[in-house]
Amino acid sequence: MTNQLDKKSQAWSALFSEPVSELVQRYTSSVNFDKRLWQADIEGSLAHAGMLAAQGIIGAQDLADIERGLAQIAHEIRSGQFEWKLALEDVHLNIEARLTQLVGDAGKRLHTGRSRNDQVATDVRLWLRGEIDTISQLLHGLQTALLDLAEQHTQTIMPGFTHLQVAQPVSFAHHLLAYVEMFSRDAERMAEVRARTNRLPLGSAALAGTSYPLDRERVARALGMVDAHGAPQLCRNSLDAVSDRDFAIEFTSAAALCMVHISRLSEELVLWMSQNFAFIGLADRFTTGSSIMPQKKNPDVPELARGKTGRVVGHLMGLITLMKGQPLAYNKDNQEDKEPLFDTVDTLQDTLRIFAEMMGGVTVHAPAMQAAAARGYATATDLADYLVKKGLPFRDAHEVVAHAVKSAQTLGVELSALPLATLQNFHAAIESDVFGFLSLNGSLEARNTVGGTAPQQVQMEITRHRQRLG
Ligand code: ARG
Repeated sequence: MTNQLDKKSQAWSALFSEPVSELVQRYTSSVNFDKRLWQADIEGSLAHAGMLAAQGIIGAQDLADIERGLAQIAHEIRSGQFEWKLALEDVHLNIEARLTQLVGDAGKRLHTGRSRNDQVATDVRLWLRGEIDTISQLLHGLQTALLDLAEQHTQTIMPGFTHLQVAQPVSFAHHLLAYVEMFSRDAERMAEVRARTNRLPLGSAALAGTSYPLDRERVARALGMVDAHGAPQLCRNSLDAVSDRDFAIEFTSAAALCMVHISRLSEELVLWMSQNFAFIGLADRFTTGSSIMPQKKNPDVPELARGKTGRVVGHLMGLITLMKGQPLAYNKDNQEDKEPLFDTVDTLQDTLRIFAEMMGGVTVHAPAMQAAAARGYATATDLADYLVKKGLPFRDAHEVVAHAVKSAQTLGVELSALPLATLQNFHAAIESDVFGFLSLNGSLEARNTVGGTAPQQVQMEITRHRQRLG
């Protein structure tokens, strides 16, 4: 029994008369997934040890031993030689046990003034901060890919939809810029979450703070947990610091929203690629064939992205429910924050990466887009606006045009195909200049207000986005 206790760990011991059962060990251990935090764990330990030495809490030799031991451990993990032990429960105890094995007493002194509670909160924040930075870069890449495509299509006309019914003509570039707006807000949200994630729990110890004279600001500076002016950012209540995971929830919420944007784009790509629209093609490397229908090319990537959105939304529900009902301060429940968070990061990063590439390979079938816009009486509003310019109240103009559309529908032609004399039957104010207003190009050009689809406006927005992205 003594042997088993020895094996279990040095974290607790004398108090326990028997080791945990194998089932409990498997149930409570997190090392299989939280070993992913190893770099953050070592980084946090180095900052903590450096501060302990500077404060005279441990000796200079202890610090040197700890640094040497942690460097060795980093090497072992990187090269796959490190032996992760389930019995040592989590990444923190695995690294600490190995450190003590390597450097003796100095390893045992590392945990002075620290608890796994403030340690894990620090590790997760450090790790997530790095992942948010990657996500920001990926969002930048996706926006750039969309702008590159948009740049070529400020004059490419497609039907704009409401209720998925042809509504008014818009340019394909304008449509793409809607997504650039969404992803730019996603990037803003990520930056805001990063600022709140980048605060230091370490120094809170188990829950109440510590009796050692720690210099928390020094640790924060060493870890880059500073604001834009270089001021250290500390979690300022020890109970809150070790227990709340709101930063993880906020992150997952921002990630879920970003995936929802991806999912909307996916739905459109799937529609546009279907034979019934035939607006675009995706590069073959993003599509797959059918094992039975030889003619098929399926948009698997956007379909999967749409599906994976459900998974990330699920993680948000998981995390927010995890927090609910936890009394202060730390509870083991919090160990459950990691898998949803890790999977959210992996899913979002992979999806952003693949979308940036995929959007670069979109081929546009401009004639099909234009024909679809021409088929749906997309310039009916323009005819109404024309009559308003001739002095009719808008509601009356709306009614006149409804009659014109009805009669064009009966004849099976577009508004612009109706002879002038026929149009004049609907209202005498209609003159031969009307045909300029009924054209798709005229309709586009007319919407020349900020945020409108006129090519000039869209080009200005592209330029503004390019400047913003640097
Ligand atoms: N593996 C734990 C977690 O992820 C580390 C903190 C454990 N603290 C404790 N008092 N048991 O939350």
